[in-house]
Amino acid sequence: MARDRSPASTSRRSFLSLSAAASAAMALRIVTEPMLARAARHKPLPQDGVMIDSNENPLGPCSSAREAIAAITPQGGRYLDGLTDDLVKQIGQMEDVKPDYIAVQAGSTELLHHTVCAFTSPQRSYVTADPGFEGGTFAAKAIGARVVKVPLTKSHAHDVKAMLAAATDAGLFYVCLPNNPTGTLTSQSDIEYLVENKPKGSIVLVDEAYIHFSDATSVVDLVKAGKDLILLRTFSKLYGMAGLRCGFALGRPDLLEKMYAYGGGNFMPITAMVAASASLKHAGLVPERKKINADIREEVFQWLDRNGYSYVRSQTNFFMLDTKRPAKEVIDAMAAQKVFIGRVWPAWPTYARITVGTRPEMEQFQAAFKKVMTGATASLGPVSPGKRRLGELAIRS
Ligand SMILES: Cc1ncc(COP(=O)(O)O)c(C=O)c1O
Repeated sequence: MARDRSPASTSRRSFLSLSAAASAAMALRIVTEPMLARAARHKPLPQDGVMIDSNENPLGPCSSAREAIAAITPQGGRYLDGLTDDLVKQIGQMEDVKPDYIAVQAGSTELLHHTVCAFTSPQRSYVTADPGFEGGTFAAKAIGARVVKVPLTKSHAHDVKAMLAAATDAGLFYVCLPNNPTGTLTSQSDIEYLVENKPKGSIVLVDEAYIHFSDATSVVDLVKAGKDLILLRTFSKLYGMAGLRCGFALGRPDLLEKMYAYGGGNFMPITAMVAASASLKHAGLVPERKKINADIREEVFQWLDRNGYSYVRSQTNFFMLDTKRPAKEVIDAMAAQKVFIGRVWPAWPTYARITVGTRPEMEQFQAAFKKVMTGATASLGPVSPGKRRLGELAIRS
């Protein structure tokens, strides 16, 4: 069989061989959630495996988005840049912000990466939660900034006071709302406190990639109030468009201008533009998908409670599950059952992140997890019952 020698495949392979610390040679290469998830994956993957490791949405794009893609495809030979203008206008109307407050790109990872590059430096540090999403950490390391990781509070919120105290030289405070990987919220008042008390010249970057699944209130009002804050959203999660690629940033034009210095502005795929636009117009889509995810997630939580496993009560399409041993062992044992669960954060070595898939996928997850945890598989022994706590909210300070 022919080996895949495509540039994308080569770059994925070479990423896998890099250590967690981005080397200088990595320079401004972007690190995404799927890259991190796949770096932890087993190869080769079985066709019939359950993939619940990358926070993908198994529902994919909604019906209106699919219809819009089909309708625009014959025009795929054209640079229809008016479509991006239309989407910007639509987002502006929805969020009540002017078009120059909006930057649309192929997913929000690039916007995150470029913002971190613009506001951190060897003199201005990058401050993030631990455990937190690492996309910005790689960007900060690539630019030579100090990375300051601050543990979450006991309720798994960002500890904004500790973040402020940890870095008086901060250039950027990254807040993920809800947080990846814990799926937990940070209050609006805490984010406001961070904005009001941060060092001069720094910004707060709020990543709302998963906000649609949660009950959190967006910080868009802080953008409208002209604060030093950039907000990120993506169509990859609730809207199921991870493979189609569309995300956007909202922020004051002078802040976005600094971000543009590091990239962006390329022509956007017309399929992504029409799919995003149709998704935003699709009546009732957000509450409908939020409910589908919440119902399945709640069923899994109830099953975990009944079986005495502990986890963090997330508000998103993923959650952290305590395996009570080095989580990598359980990830490997689950993979042997063809159920691919997500990765481990060094700060929480016994936890694995699980994405909420479809109901049948989560049933397969449950069956495999029980087998693994009760020692019914060859690879692992059972966890001692004394180590299992009944369905509590895992507390780490
Ligand atoms: C916290 C967070 N932010 C941003 C992204 C970026 O997603 P995308 O580049 O697909 O828009 C992800 C992807 O998983 C994520 O987990």
